[in-house]
Amino acid sequence: MGTPLTIAELKARARRRVPKMFFDYADSGAWTEGTYKANEADFAAIKLRQRVLVDMTNRSLQSTMIGETVSMPVALAPTGLTGMQHADGEILAAQAAEAFGVPFTLSTMSICSIEDVAAHTTKPFWFQLYVMKDRTFVASLISRAKAAGCSALVLTLDLQILGQRHKDIRNGLSAPPKFTPKHVWQVATRPFWAWEMTQTKRHSFGNIVGHAKGVGDLSSLSSWTAEQFDPRLSWSDVAWIKEQWGGKLILKGIMDPEDARRAADTGADAIIVSNHGGRQLDGAPSSISVLPEIVQAVGDSIEVHLDGGIRSGQDVMKALCLGAKGTYIGRPFLYGLGAYGKRGVTMALDIIRKELDITMALCGKRDIREAGPDLLHHRLPVVEAEPARPSQ
Ligand code: GLV
Repeated sequence: MGTPLTIAELKARARRRVPKMFFDYADSGAWTEGTYKANEADFAAIKLRQRVLVDMTNRSLQSTMIGETVSMPVALAPTGLTGMQHADGEILAAQAAEAFGVPFTLSTMSICSIEDVAAHTTKPFWFQLYVMKDRTFVASLISRAKAAGCSALVLTLDLQILGQRHKDIRNGLSAPPKFTPKHVWQVATRPFWAWEMTQTKRHSFGNIVGHAKGVGDLSSLSSWTAEQFDPRLSWSDVAWIKEQWGGKLILKGIMDPEDARRAADTGADAIIVSNHGGRQLDGAPSSISVLPEIVQAVGDSIEVHLDGGIRSGQDVMKALCLGAKGTYIGRPFLYGLGAYGKRGVTMALDIIRKELDITMALCGKRDIREAGPDLLHHRLPVVEAEPARPSQ
């Protein structure tokens, strides 16, 4: 295979490099995967407005997300078990994002710890927080993120219980993988992955193991969430977390205008319109389809970001046109990481950057901050032909 030109090609390559249980972990949605698929399909249905004879020199993709300058408005989303797509995955992805000039968000459920990522990067990254019942542990995660110099806290609101992903159950997903014949076979058939894993000590949940009381090995994400995550998380907890953190706060998992208004009332800096990549409530609409009503509900009171279904720079453009100030990619960077390590994350970002740049130019704009609904093509309604009248 030559140099990958699309995210789909990186995905195909990752499928051949990464053991099935981890590749599937990224490439899965809850239950029927209907929402996961809708996230992508609904982007494809949005059409762009082609313009001609507009000066397209000196183009710029630079923008801001929560006041931070970004080389393009695309952050790396928090993704669990990133260090299982490739050895030291979170460190490599954070380094690639830093060099590219876009934010990296470290998941609570990462393999490399907050401190480890901080020690291997030079600029602040963002930290995503899951809220456990043990508030002392939550407070300690927040302090650790502060001590590591993280410049934003991304609080996930939509995963207090885990949506059921059939592939994970069937694969017997765990980190590190179990020593059953099936799992040994999955690893043995991915020798480059396996060899690189032998070169690192980071094989389990770095933010948790050795930090949370009584936790030696989490192995199963589903049992850990069921036991530890707090199903009573409420808006008053958001206020408590905001106070503990004291810095930029992003609320992730908003899909409803009413929730969006409540989120804006908390004084947070941004919301992420997100259905968790279709991994939580299967049957929820795609994130891009609800973006306009959420943007309308909150107006200028809070910055609106979006994740879910972005597989190209064109998708980024569409989200920006519909009112998102920033976007996130999860699976696209994981595929790059699984396929080629750090270089692959840069490839994924590069693919998206080129697509975004060319799309912007062909839509007649030179500055990405000018993206708006006027760049979208609104098809004329189809006029139904009148049924022919029977002749008298
Ligand atoms: C965790 O964030 C997951 O979606 O698996």
